[in-house]
This record gives sequence, structure tokens and C-alpha cells, in this order.
Amino acid sequence: MADDEKCPFRILDVTAANPEARADPYPRLAELRALCPLHRDEAGGAWLVPRMADARAVFTDNSHTKNPDTAEPGAHAVRRRRATVPEGLDFPDDQRSSLLELDGEEHSRIRRPLVQALYERIARFEPECIRIVDDALDRQEGRRGEFDLMREIAHPVPVACIGAILGVPEEKLSSFQTWMDGIIQTFNPIRTPEDVASLVASANGLAHFVRETFAARKLDPRDDLFSDMAKAQAEGAPLSDVDITFNLRGVLIAGNITTTDVIGNAVRLIITHPEQRAKLAADPALWPNAVEETLRYEAPVDFTWRIASRDMELSGCPVNKGAALSVFMRSANRDEAAFPRADEFDVSRKGAARHLAFGGGAHICPGAPLARMEARHLLQRLFTRFPNLRLADPAAPVDWRKIPGFRGLERLGVRID
Ligand code: HEM
Repeated sequence: MADDEKCPFRILDVTAANPEARADPYPRLAELRALCPLHRDEAGGAWLVPRMADARAVFTDNSHTKNPDTAEPGAHAVRRRRATVPEGLDFPDDQRSSLLELDGEEHSRIRRPLVQALYERIARFEPECIRIVDDALDRQEGRRGEFDLMREIAHPVPVACIGAILGVPEEKLSSFQTWMDGIIQTFNPIRTPEDVASLVASANGLAHFVRETFAARKLDPRDDLFSDMAKAQAEGAPLSDVDITFNLRGVLIAGNITTTDVIGNAVRLIITHPEQRAKLAADPALWPNAVEETLRYEAPVDFTWRIASRDMELSGCPVNKGAALSVFMRSANRDEAAFPRADEFDVSRKGAARHLAFGGGAHICPGAPLARMEARHLLQRLFTRFPNLRLADPAAPVDWRKIPGFRGLERLGVRID
């Protein structure tokens, strides 16, 4: 069991909520892995799981659960997911259909048809993905000079891609971006009244849009994921309207900020590692691996959770049934026991794709093939088309977002001539 005197971290201390960890979380995570294979976070009532071997063991055992109601009473952070729904939400109970919080047959009842339809769409999406990427780069070609890569490219491309898959009309994409900016406040533990107001307005805006669009597609199907789900329901898949609309909202949200972050993180890493950039220029076949290495080295998501299904041990430490486990992917991905020279960014690293950035087991991220496709095409085309892409001010501090749980850039000032 962890010794709190040696290892005095709360989970927030190793996330972007803490200024030191925001700048560089990895030294503290390395300390955690060395000293506390299972560390108690009293504030959240959870156990941090920082080592790769333990993280994998938890993910591959699908008897562990995610439903907050299965956690022990002291697991505040996980149980709070249900308890602190902000006031003013128009559909506060919809969350009970969330894939992220369901287990077993209830989870697969919704996940199976949704993921099947999503995978079929992604498999046909590559030409459209390339068109969206090229459009974004064309717009930049006209402007050149200095710009914020996050605002001009890393945000709009994933929004346009997930919007195209779901069938969000192009004129809705800008309100969509505003909703995303508000919804990210869900993950902010220190929300101001303005943050809460923006979160509630955005969540309601998105919820109404998704409900109305789904109702319209039931009557008048088109070639999009909304219509696929309407068809699955009409053909007998045991899915309620809320099961579908809540999880399509989830896809719209999950498909955005994380993909934006991997793109921004990769651009910054490649620009600031000229020897890696040279490798990619000499061997473009390395681009897919560069995406995997970015997901490993600078994962967009810090951690996910599981609830222990039984009494057991991790790295020799006892875990009781009902304990909330915060599986820290960012830490596991830098574990030397899994990745030699783990703190080096190496686009030619063998086995880079064995990272855990997408979680694992029954809940593994179903959007991974889309995120990989977008990042690969965007990065390869961006660096090929603008070989002199560079930081606008190499001495400027890195502008990391402050919201815990994610690692991504608020702003990335770059230049192309
Ligand atoms: C680089 C981009 C992305 C990252 C790093 C990421 C990461 C994750 C993680 C860590 C989880 C939790 C998995 C677990 O608990 O084991 C997850 C779940 C999920 N993601 Fe992603 N994601 C990304 C992109 C996407 C995209 C593009 C979509 C949609 C097209 C998506 C849809 C989902 C959904 C629906 C879930 C819930 C799955 C379930 O609980 O069964 N994600 N993602």
C-alpha cells in the first residue's frame, strides 16, 4: 500500500489543475510509479494506478465495472459523476444511458449497434477526411504569416469530420464549436458561475439539437450516423431514443477535444524535435507511427476509471471490491518497464502503438480509427505542404489548457512564410 509520507499527491496534483504538473507532469508521475504502485487519493476516494502492468491488468479484466453506483460509498469522485448534475439541464436523467457508465449486457446492448454503424462510416470516410483536411490547409495557404494553429486547424478539422459522419449541417458547425467550449467545463472541478452557465447553455443547446435531428432523420433518413441509428432501432435493436441521442451526443463530444489535442500536441512535438521531423521528411511511411508515438508520449486523456469487481491485488497491494481505480494512462505510457527510453519522443519507436491512450477492454475508445485517420492525414499534409512551418515565438511558454483530465494546448502560435 502507498506510503502517504513518501508520496503526498492528490490526483489533481498530477493533472493540469496544478501549475507545476501542467508544465510537466512526468517527473511526479515517475515518482508515483517508483514509490506508490497504488496510491490513495483521499480527496477523490480513489486509487491511482500508475504502472503499465497494473493498468493493463485492470483493463483486460472485464469483470471490473464503470457504473458509479457499483463503487463503494467513499469513492466520492466516481459517485459524484451522478450526484452533481448542474441545475438547469433540460434532460438531467439522460446520463443514465451513457456508455461510459454502463456495464455488461446493458453496455453492449447500446455499444454494439452504435460501434458497428460508426466503424462502417469510418471505413468509408477517408476521401472525405482528406477533403476536409485539404480545405483547412487551403484556407491557411491564402493567409500565411503568423496564426494560432489550434484555432485555425486543430479545432475545426475534428469538428468538421465528426460533423460529417453524424450529418451535422455545415451551417451548424460554428454553434457546435461554441457548445464544445462550454461542455468542456464538465471536467473543470473549480467552475465559476459563468463557467456553469456556459456549461448548462451548451449542454442544453447540444441536447436539443441532437434530439431534434434524430426525430427528423427517423421521418426522413439520410446518409449519416443519425439515420443509421434510426434504421437500427426500426429494425428491432433494443434501443430507446434516449439511449441513441445521449450516446450520439457523447460521440460528438468525445470525437472533438481529444482529437484536437493529439493534433496540437503532435505539431508542437514535431516542430520542437527537428531530428524527428527530418526522419519523417526522409521516410513518410513513419507518419502513422508518429501519431502513435504522440498518443504515447503526450496522451490527450490523463486517466479513466474502473471499479474493482472483487478483492484482489495490484503490484502486491490489496484492493477491495468496490474500490474506485483511476487508471493513469499518461503515467503507464511513460513506464520504462514497457517502453525503454520512455521519456524520449521517437517517431520510429518500435511498439509505440502499445500505449493505452484509448483506454482498454470493453470500453476501449471506438473512435480510435477516426482519430488516427484525421491526425495522420492532417500532420503529413501540413508538414509536407508547409516545410517551413515553425513556432511563431520559440521562447514563449507552452500554453497548456488548465482543465484537469486532459493534456492539450490552449493556443499554439506558428508561422508559415
Ligand atoms: C485521440 C483521440 C481520442 C482519445 C485519446 C480518446 C480516448 C478515450 C478514452 C481514454 C476513453 C475511455 C476508455 C476506457 O474507459 O477504457 C474513450 C471512450 C470513448 N470514446 Fe474516445 N478518444 C478519442 C477520440 C474519439 C473519437 C474520434 C470518438 C468518436 C468518433 C470517440 C468516442 C468515444 C466513445 C463513444 C467512448 C465511450 C466508449 C465506451 O465506454 O464504451 N473518441 N475515448
